[in-house]
Amino acid sequence: GDGVFKYYSSGEWKKSSSGKSVPIINPTTRQPHFKVQACTQEEVNKLMEEAKTAQKSWAKTPLWKRAELLHKVAALLKEHKVPIAECLVKEIAKPSKDAATEAVRSGDLVSYCAEEGVRILGEGKFLVSDSFPGNERTKYCLTAKVPLGVILAIPPFNYPVNLAVSKIAPALIAGNSIVLKPPTQGAVAALHMVHCFHLAGFPKGLISCVTGRGSEIGDFLTMHPMVNCISFTGGDTGIAISKKAGMIPLQMELGGKDACIILDDADLDLAAANIVKGGFSYSGQRCTAVKVVLVMESVANALVDKVKAKVAKLTVGLPEDDSDITPVVTESSANFIEGLVVDAKQKGATFCQEYRREGNLIWPLLLDNVRSDMRIAWEEPFGPVLPVIRITSVEEGIHHCNASNFGLQGCVFTRDISKAILISDAMETGTVQINSAPARGPDHFPFQGLKDSGIGSQGITNSINMMTKIKTTVINLP
Ligand code: G3H
Repeated sequence: GDGVFKYYSSGEWKKSSSGKSVPIINPTTRQPHFKVQACTQEEVNKLMEEAKTAQKSWAKTPLWKRAELLHKVAALLKEHKVPIAECLVKEIAKPSKDAATEAVRSGDLVSYCAEEGVRILGEGKFLVSDSFPGNERTKYCLTAKVPLGVILAIPPFNYPVNLAVSKIAPALIAGNSIVLKPPTQGAVAALHMVHCFHLAGFPKGLISCVTGRGSEIGDFLTMHPMVNCISFTGGDTGIAISKKAGMIPLQMELGGKDACIILDDADLDLAAANIVKGGFSYSGQRCTAVKVVLVMESVANALVDKVKAKVAKLTVGLPEDDSDITPVVTESSANFIEGLVVDAKQKGATFCQEYRREGNLIWPLLLDNVRSDMRIAWEEPFGPVLPVIRITSVEEGIHHCNASNFGLQGCVFTRDISKAILISDAMETGTVQINSAPARGPDHFPFQGLKDSGIGSQGITNSINMMTKIKTTVINLP
C-alpha cells in the first residue's frame, strides 16, 4: 500500500480518515523508517464505544477461557520474536539480542499473568457479621474481584512491547478491555505485538491500538469519559496526565534517579560489574538504570578504576550488530544528555573518558567527583552518562538519595547484611536491591516508585489486583 502501518480497531486493520501519517525516525540513521496512521478524535470515540461493549461480554467469558487465549498469545509472541525484534532495532535502536529478549520476556509475562489470574481471581472471601460489635451472625458477605471496564494503556519507547503487555495481560485476564496508545518510536513493534493478539482470536473491539500525534489525541484519550483506568509508563507527561485525569484509578511509573551506594566493605568487582550493567545497558535508557553512584571515599579510587576498565570494554555502534551502546532514541534526547555533560564539565567534574558523540550515538561516559551543584547529580540523563559522587559517610549517601524528587529503586553494596537492611529501610524508594543493580524483574515482583516516580504498584499480581475492584454481596438472614 502507501507504506503506512494501519491502526487496529473493531478487530480490523484500518487506515485513518485523516489521510495523515506520523513518521518514525530510525535513531541510528536519523531518517524516517516507518509511518503510522495519525488517528482522529472520532476514531478514538468509535474504538472507545467498542471497547465498552466488548468488555461487557468479555467479563462474562469464563476465566479459564480468558486464560487460554492469553496462553495462545504468549506462544505467538515468542514465535514472532524475530520480526518484533527487528522493529525494536529499527525504531528504538535496541541492541538486537535485547530486542529478542524483550519479545520472549513478554511471552513469559503473558502466560504467567494467565496463570496468576486464574488463581487470584478464582477465589474470593466470605465474611460473617458477628465479629463486629453489636452484630448477630445474620449477615454473610461474599467478595469477588470485578473488572474496572476500559483500561487505557500507554507504554514508553524503551519497552514498547514488554511494557505494553505488562498492562494488557493483567487487564484482559481480569475481564477488562484495552485501548493501547503505543509510543511513536516503537509503534510498529507494538502493532506487531497487537497482531499476535489478533491471531489468537480475541473478540472484536476488546483490544484496540490507536496511533497518532499526542497533540491531536493525547489529552483526548487520557481525559476520555469512557476510560476507567490509566496505566502509564513514561516521563513527565505522567504528572500532567494525573492532574487532568478524572476519578479513576491510575497506575503510573515515571522514571527515577536510582542511586547505587557503595560501602567500604563492598565486593568492588561485583559492584563495578553491576554499575556497568545497571548504568549502561540499553545505553542507560531504562527507568531503573543506575543513575548516580554514591561511593565511600576510602574505596572510590579502586571502584572508579574497576568501572573504567569495564566501560572501556563496552562496544559502541549499531543495534543491528548488537553493540552494547547504541544511538539514543532521538536527537533531542541526545542534545539533552549533552547539556548535562557540558554543565558537568563547566562545574569541574572529572571526565573518565573523553566525551564523544556522532549523531544520536553517545559514547559511554563516567563522570567522577560530581558535586551537588551539577545538574547531572539530580537529573535523569536517560543516556550512557553516569555520575559518581564521593561520600564520606553512609548518611551522606542516604541523604542524597532521599533529596531526589524521584524514588523508584536504589541499591546498596556491602558484605554486612544488617547494615544493608538498615540502609534499605532508610532509602525512600519503592525497592532497594542489596548487592545487585536495580531492575523491574522478575516480572511478578512488586514494582513501584515513591514521589515523582509513580502511583500504585505494578508487577503481575499487583497489576491484576489494581485492574479490578472489590464487589460484595451481602446475604441478610431473617
Ligand atoms: O524503563 C523502565 C522499566 O520498567 C525498567 O525495566 O528494569 O526490566 O529494565 P527493567
